[in-house]
Amino acid sequence: TALALSAVLAVASLSQTARAQTDKPIIINFSHVVADDTPKGKAALRFKELAERSTQNRVHVEIYPNSTLYKDKEELEALQLGAVQMLAPSLAKFAPLGVGEFEVFDIPYMFPSKAALRKITDGKIGAELLAKLEPKGIKGLAYWDNGFKLMSATKPLIQPEDMKGLKMRIQASRVLDAQMRALGAFPQVLAFSDVFQALQTGVVDGTENPPSNMVTQNMHAVQPYATLTNHGYLGYAVIVNKRFWDSLPSDLRSALDGALKEATRYGNDIAQKENDTAIATMAASGKTQFHTQTPEERKAWRTALAPVAQSMEARVGKGLIDAIRRETE
Ligand code: LMR
Repeated sequence: TALALSAVLAVASLSQTARAQTDKPIIINFSHVVADDTPKGKAALRFKELAERSTQNRVHVEIYPNSTLYKDKEELEALQLGAVQMLAPSLAKFAPLGVGEFEVFDIPYMFPSKAALRKITDGKIGAELLAKLEPKGIKGLAYWDNGFKLMSATKPLIQPEDMKGLKMRIQASRVLDAQMRALGAFPQVLAFSDVFQALQTGVVDGTENPPSNMVTQNMHAVQPYATLTNHGYLGYAVIVNKRFWDSLPSDLRSALDGALKEATRYGNDIAQKENDTAIATMAASGKTQFHTQTPEERKAWRTALAPVAQSMEARVGKGLIDAIRRETE
């Protein structure tokens, strides 16, 4: 009977293999708004490679970079509707889902370093924030880095007062709106895909971005001045449609979890280097003059932006701000 049983098992596993071979692969459409050649773009491509390999191609990941499928706001709707399965929006873009807490990442000078930031994203606070997405039909799986932002414009930005009266493009975040207003600038929300043209045509005078975003959208060609303010962080949450994710066979889901862990490690490892290279590339192009702040200038910007955290307590939660400060100080 042992022989008979193993024969039955062999037949069963054969037919399973046959089924796996004829089954259509599961498709994960992964939409994002930046270039392939950015920290997020590269991490997404690495995830695709690892996901397909670790599932023996039972899962296919289709990456749609550069807003080719959806712009900022539409991609969130598409995820909830199940038109795409995976996104990695900037943490500044979660307000349309009714979770303003993510804007805590936008507070100027909130994170003294990447290590401090990582402590939050890898810890209890990071997990609790992602859990807030579940009632919205979205599951948060990981945090991906881009980096700290610089400020660019059509004029030199040496003192905080130099920002007065400038029209500045921001992502759709109330905290970023408050940040620009604290500097006397006029914030204007634009989708990422519209930024280059808005800068080129003078719809806005300037913007803020990590260098990797600036160079890959050719913004340096139309922004003659930039200051390495490092005043705020831009990172992402990798999110999936929860119904889709929960419906995956558990072996595939754990393979995808593993692929994502590895892609996250990879992306977060290269992000700083990518941004350093981006500054070097833009500086070498001679199109943008990069200003490095003196300690006094840095202090003046910090002072000008200090009220933002307090004025946004009602928006993001005083408890959350305090908890992050306690953990990162
Ligand atoms: C932006 O809109 O500036 C960024 O969120 C783009 C991105 O995804 O890095």
